[in-house]
Formats: sequence, structure tokens, C-alpha cells
Amino acid sequence: MMESAISQKLGGVFSASKPFVEFLTQSKWASRMGSADICDFVVGTPHEQAIPEYVEAIRKASVPLRPDWFGYKVNDPQAREIAAEALRQRVGAAFENEDLFLTNGASSALIIALSAILDPGDEVIFLSPPWFFYESMINFTHGNAIQVKVDPQSFDIDVEAVASAITPRTRAIIVNSPNNPTGKIYPPKTLDRLAEVLTTASEKFGKAIYLISDESYNRLVFDERKFSSPTAHYPNSFLIYSYAKALLTPGQRLGYIAISPTMNERAKLRRAVQLTQYNLYAFPDAVHLHALCEIEPLIFDLDRLQRRRDLMAKALLEQGYELQIPEGAWYLLPKTPIPDDVEFAEILAAQDVYVLPGSIIELPGYLRICLTANDEMVQRSLPVFESAIKSFTGKKTVPLATA
Ligand SMILES: Cc1ncc(COP(=O)(O)O)c(C=O)c1O
Repeated sequence: MMESAISQKLGGVFSASKPFVEFLTQSKWASRMGSADICDFVVGTPHEQAIPEYVEAIRKASVPLRPDWFGYKVNDPQAREIAAEALRQRVGAAFENEDLFLTNGASSALIIALSAILDPGDEVIFLSPPWFFYESMINFTHGNAIQVKVDPQSFDIDVEAVASAITPRTRAIIVNSPNNPTGKIYPPKTLDRLAEVLTTASEKFGKAIYLISDESYNRLVFDERKFSSPTAHYPNSFLIYSYAKALLTPGQRLGYIAISPTMNERAKLRRAVQLTQYNLYAFPDAVHLHALCEIEPLIFDLDRLQRRRDLMAKALLEQGYELQIPEGAWYLLPKTPIPDDVEFAEILAAQDVYVLPGSIIELPGYLRICLTANDEMVQRSLPVFESAIKSFTGKKTVPLATA
């Protein structure tokens, strides 16, 4: 018998993200994506024109001024200074330029962080519902992924559950705030309590437990809330950032990993991150780095996103859906009126409204609605959401809105 053409380990390593990847590639949505007829709420990709200043910056940076214009730009000092200065302003901590490593997106930055600190079998805690790829990334970097559920009512971190999940093999926890998919911004009190738990456990087991803070959405904060970086609460932290969220440019790969200035053995970790980055070739494009000075401060119209959140959340609540108002990021997370979220998503899809069934993100009984759809799609979808819920409840009910 012929051996399988693919690695046997793939099934195990990537099994956690398989439902999402299959949805992306094999679902009905996959065959309709890009069609003008559909209302597309599935993933955070743009459905309106890019920020003009972004387009202009990229256009300018695409014209070579020197022979080495498109050459390797690994950790270009000028680009590092621009990104690190913006980070210092935003987070208020004394990151040095050499703490920051620009990468081709937050996902590469996450893999670098995990690769730099994990030995085979080390445990990494991730919070559920998670971003799709955390578990696969932990497995891929030879760690053991340990799932801890957030509080189901508030979506806050269940710090006591985290404490119970820590073992002598725990090496890191991934925290994502503002959160995809819940929209939760973890409050300073929770982060302080988490820091206490991590510090106590690190001391008990005689080795640092790292906090990997995925802050890809840290500029997408609503209602003039304050975002508190988890890295400001705990010394042994990595900060992960993506430019794709504030700019709404996920096809343009740019992000970074920054080592907290309070990190123990910071110099050693800088070298580990650098070595890992080179081995993964996880570098950003030269054009992006030439444009960084102009694109760093840009952000798409957050007020418009907030208006869209408000309009859609209000309409769905009036129609009888239960949902919490997200504090940041760009997702709405209504409960489905029936337990089977896949079936409910199919009912919407039959009328050209596409959302992500919650089961795919470990949240059965919910739908994830991505607010990067445009306003016209939102308007067109509302009667479909209404008729779908009515077909199960028969009449409108107005539940109490939760904060
Ligand atoms: C929470 C979270 N982290 C990381 C990423 C990956 O970001 P990037 O596209 O920069 O790799 C995403 C993208 O959707 C995300 O939602």
C-alpha cells in the first residue's frame, strides 16, 4: 500500500482550526464570497474603499528611490523607531526600539513568541471562545494547548479557572483584548488578579509563566473607553500587534512582537525572538516599512464602525435576539433562538446573509457577525434576521439589553 502523501501529524496539529479552514474554503459562503448579492458578515475583510492616505502612502513607497529599495529590511532601525514610538505613546511603557520586531502580521508574531519559549510538552493556556488559530499554533510549536473558558455571562477572564489550570508544565497564557469574538476589553482589576496568579505560580514552580498579549484590536475601542494593555499589569509579557485591524487591510501583512521592558532575561529573549524570526523568515515587506511613517497613525473611521454597531445591535435586540454590546473589536455575538447555530446560520444563508456559526469558535448557540460589512449590507440583512427569528418565536419579544 502507498504511504499517505501528507504528513500524518497534520491531522493532529491542525485539527483545532480545521472547522474554520473548511468553512473558509468549502462552505456555501466560500463559493459566494465576493458576490454583490450577498450580505457578508463572515470575516474581517473590507467591503468599502481603503483609507485614501493609506493607498497614497503605499503608492509612493512602491516607487524605488535606491537600488536596495526592495531589498531585505529586517528590523530596519527607522521603521522600528516609528513603531516603537507609537507603542510607547499608546501603552505608556518604556519599550526600547530593540524590543520590537516587525513581522508579516500578528500571526507570525504569535508563532515567534510561542517558538521562542516552548519546549515540547510545555502547556499554554488559551481562553475560549478563542481566535481560531491559537490552539493549532500552540500544537504546531510543540506545546500542549489548555483551554480555559471565560465567564459565560460577562465574557471576562475566569481567573480562578486559570489558576486551577496551571501546572508545573505551564509556560504561557495567551490573552486577547479587545477580544475576538466577544468584544470584551478585560478590566484592570481582572488583569491585576491574573498577574497575581501568574506571579505566584511562576514563583512556586521556579520558572516564568509568560503572558502573550494579543492586542491586534487595541485601537478599536468604543464609547471612549480606556484600553489597558495586559502587558502593563505583568512583567513577563510579549505584546502582539497587527496593523490589519486599525487599517482594515488584512491582505497586507504587517504586525509586530514587542518584548515588555519589564521582562526578566530581556536580552536573552531579544536574541531568542531574533533567531526565531530569522528562521521563520517572518519579515514584513519592504514597501510597508518605507510607508510606515505615514501609515502608523492612520485608522479607519471608528465612529462609523461604532454607529454600525449601535444600529445593528439595537435592531437585533428589538427583533428579539439576545446580545451584549461589544466594548471593542468589530464583532456582534447574538444568541441563536435555537440551539443549533449551524442550522440557524443556514437559514440566514438561504437568504444571502452569511455569518459565522458560533460552533466554529467553541461557542455553540451563537452567531459571530463581523461589522466590517458595509452599511448597505447591514440594511439589507436586517429584514432577513427578523424573519429568521420570527420563524422560531412567532412574535417579537424585547429582552433586556445587557451591558
Ligand atoms: C485576535 C487575532 N489575533 C491575530 C490575528 C491575525 O492577525 P494578522 O492578520 O496580522 O496575522 C487576528 C486576525 O483575524 C485576530 O483576530
